[in-house]
Amino acid sequence: MKITAILLAAGQGTRMKSSLPKVLHPVAGKPMIWHALKAIAQSTTEKPVVVVGHGAGEVTKYLGDSAQIVEQEPQLGTGHAVLQAEASVKGKSDLVVVCYADMPLMRGETLQRLVETQKRNSGPVSMLTVIADDPRGFGRIIRNPDGTVSAIVEEYVATPEQLQVKELNVGGYCFDAKWLWDALHRIPKNPKKGEYYLTDTVELAAKDGLPVHATVMDDLEETIGVNTRVHLSEVEAAMRRRINETHMLNGVTMIDPASVYIEADVRIGKDTTLMPNTCLHGGTELGEGNIIGPNTIIRDTKVGNGCKILASVLEGALLENDVDMGPFARLRKGAHLGNHVHMGNFGEVKDSRLAEGVKMGHFSYIGNAQIGANTNIGAGTITCNYDGEKKHATEIGEDVFIGSDTMLVAPLKLGDGAKTGAGAVVTKDVPADTLVVGMPARAIRKLERKTKKK
Ligand code: UD1
Ligand code: CA
Repeated sequence: MKITAILLAAGQGTRMKSSLPKVLHPVAGKPMIWHALKAIAQSTTEKPVVVVGHGAGEVTKYLGDSAQIVEQEPQLGTGHAVLQAEASVKGKSDLVVVCYADMPLMRGETLQRLVETQKRNSGPVSMLTVIADDPRGFGRIIRNPDGTVSAIVEEYVATPEQLQVKELNVGGYCFDAKWLWDALHRIPKNPKKGEYYLTDTVELAAKDGLPVHATVMDDLEETIGVNTRVHLSEVEAAMRRRINETHMLNGVTMIDPASVYIEADVRIGKDTTLMPNTCLHGGTELGEGNIIGPNTIIRDTKVGNGCKILASVLEGALLENDVDMGPFARLRKGAHLGNHVHMGNFGEVKDSRLAEGVKMGHFSYIGNAQIGANTNIGAGTITCNYDGEKKHATEIGEDVFIGSDTMLVAPLKLGDGAKTGAGAVVTKDVPADTLVVGMPARAIRKLERKTKKK
């Protein structure tokens, strides 16, 4: 059986008061429409069709080839919007799922159940409803005395009696395709707004004497449609709780989940602990047994196992295992810290690799550098990697000791076992096992190396 989803995303989203199309507003770091498409993918067999209109260019660009795009111009209502997909879908699908792109909390499982319900329904449509005290401007479900659904009435045309109805239209439907295409052409133009409402198909079915199946949902949160930024914040909070709960159920500890922010794509291994005020963004992946935070921001970074990261900011970095960082350390793009690296307060690393066991305790900047195993970077060391025009590389060997406040003027190489005196300004390469001091630094002694255990 072929099942296609049509996702409506053409509306202006006037109430958002934004120059960004509503469906591109992020929830847990991903555009609202990303969440809608993810849920839809679980219940359908064909590529989804997205109806775009306002901000069509931006939305289309975002979607790429993840969906078939259909344009609705002008936007004459939700029924008219679905009709724009007729040419792409008619004759190619047995069932059609229709959803609104402004409902990012809708679960894939719910849509799956909706499709299953319609498969068993002898009538042409199954839909989702919810019973709530706050109507939020939703359409009211009108039922016959025998309990069957007879119509959906939009709030602004509802009679005072109809306004009292607590059962609301969520905005998720599964239609028998053949019936749908015919019905859409029969929707009357709404006399007040001159629009064609998808919700009127329900009344058409009832008038045809065909049963409409309405499933009452019990998770209120899932039904939140975002019309304003207040709704957006409600959805964000609910999504955050949902994401955090999923991680906790998968073995992640959170001391205070209310202060932990994890975006939708982040992955976390078991027995990792997230302390308060931890923000994990983008494609961040954390392994097992890490302790992250308090007060840590990590974006697009891969962290191995057993690391401790306290009050630090990491972006585009890679950490192997048992790294100990912070407080107040910063990793920028291309920072790679090997096993057992220690990076203390006020350090910054960018485009550099610190091999296993490197220690960098205090106040240092390492950029465009390769640092060999077990090297010690003294307090206040700086790789002077930029000469005002170009970036240059610094290569430091294994078991090197960089004295406090050393300036390493790149391009520069320091051999294994080399040592610099405090305050050295190193402008020339340093051979292995050699001590340099002064400004500019000069070699003063050959050293004997104590071989370290690895
Ligand atoms: C709609 C429903 C209402 C339901 C509520 C749930 C209709 C007529 N009303 O009302 O019964 O309770 O959702 O959230 O369907 N869109 C288009 N083209 C258009 C108009 C809208 O693509 O011409 C899209 C919008 O981008 C949006 C969705 O359809 O994603 C719903 O439109 P919106 O204006 O938000 O409808 P509501 O007033 O919320
Ligand atoms: Ca809406």
